[in-house]
Amino acid sequence: MAIILAIESSCDETSASVCIDGKIVSNIIANQTIHQNYGGVVPELASRVHQQNIIPTVHHALNEANVNKNQLHAIAFTRGPGLLGSLLVGVSFAKSFALGLNIPLIEVNHIQAHVLAHFIAPKNMPNYTPPPFPFLCLTVSGGHTQIVLVKNHFDMQIIGQTLDDAAGEAFDKTAKILGLPYPGGPLIDKYAQMGQQTYAFTEPNIPELNFSFSGLKTAILYFINDNIKKNPDFLKQNIHNICASVQGRIVSILLNKLKKAAQLYQINHIAIAGGVSANSGLRQALHIEAQNNNWKVYIPDLNYCTDNAAMIAIAGYFKYLNHDFVGQNISPLPRMSF
Ligand code: KG4
Ligand code: ZN
Repeated sequence: MAIILAIESSCDETSASVCIDGKIVSNIIANQTIHQNYGGVVPELASRVHQQNIIPTVHHALNEANVNKNQLHAIAFTRGPGLLGSLLVGVSFAKSFALGLNIPLIEVNHIQAHVLAHFIAPKNMPNYTPPPFPFLCLTVSGGHTQIVLVKNHFDMQIIGQTLDDAAGEAFDKTAKILGLPYPGGPLIDKYAQMGQQTYAFTEPNIPELNFSFSGLKTAILYFINDNIKKNPDFLKQNIHNICASVQGRIVSILLNKLKKAAQLYQINHIAIAGGVSANSGLRQALHIEAQNNNWKVYIPDLNYCTDNAAMIAIAGYFKYLNHDFVGQNISPLPRMSF
């Protein structure tokens, strides 16, 4: 039997999860609302709030799982990538807890964990089968946009990535231009569902399987400024259609590269992961592409799209099975790669 406690603190969510033999039994997420006042995550404030949240969050996760700390077999934690001050809180907590309990420590790469969220069986699907290897995963978050060739649980190759902003950043920066609060992605998604794609933003011509979103952001800024000059109420009157148009373009940029990758690698098991995989437009468009291209698509449960410790726990479980542990000399890696 393996009972693993996992800690996630790479950005602005403090999360703890308990996993028993590969099954997630609790996943507690403490969101930080303080950043809304600043239009983005303030690293110093994020680490301070992690400090306040970490112990109650772990308590909550253990209680909900009905597990006593002395029953734990290992502690998994996010080593990176992420904000140094935020990571430090989770890493230090994990190290001390493992030392106190005299149990092994397991390091997890946050981006690999987003992909491995597909190995968590959703609560209402007891017969769930995860994607078979190899599969392609479009990982889209606030910090990353990658197409990953997943050959095994920990053998992943990035075959395409953004050259500038991440897809989540494109949502969040657009939201800021539109005067919407941080994080803007979920709100753009909500408004997009009430609008039509009436405005055409150009799709950038980027080689191979790579992406670029910075041009789109600039185009949106000019478009809004030009129109506000003609009609000061332009934003207020057209916010739903603007959101639908921006979201439609971001989704088409992502899916066109994903189609190219699937053709190039002759793979039809296609997954999406990361915070932006919660986007309803992306989820819908992926289902349509699945029909058009004979893909089998894997879309994570909404609980496991944005940052959470359950994905760290499942990654930790696979590493536990391999006896892949780290020592007390481990430190966070803000730019951790794989
Ligand atoms: O994976 P995540 O929680 O954190 C990182 O590792 O970055 O992703 C956060 C990103 C933010 O940019 C947020 O705006 C975006 O995911 N996001 C969405 C939606 N939900 C979260 N973007 C578009 N539509 C959504 N429904
Ligand atoms: Zn993430």
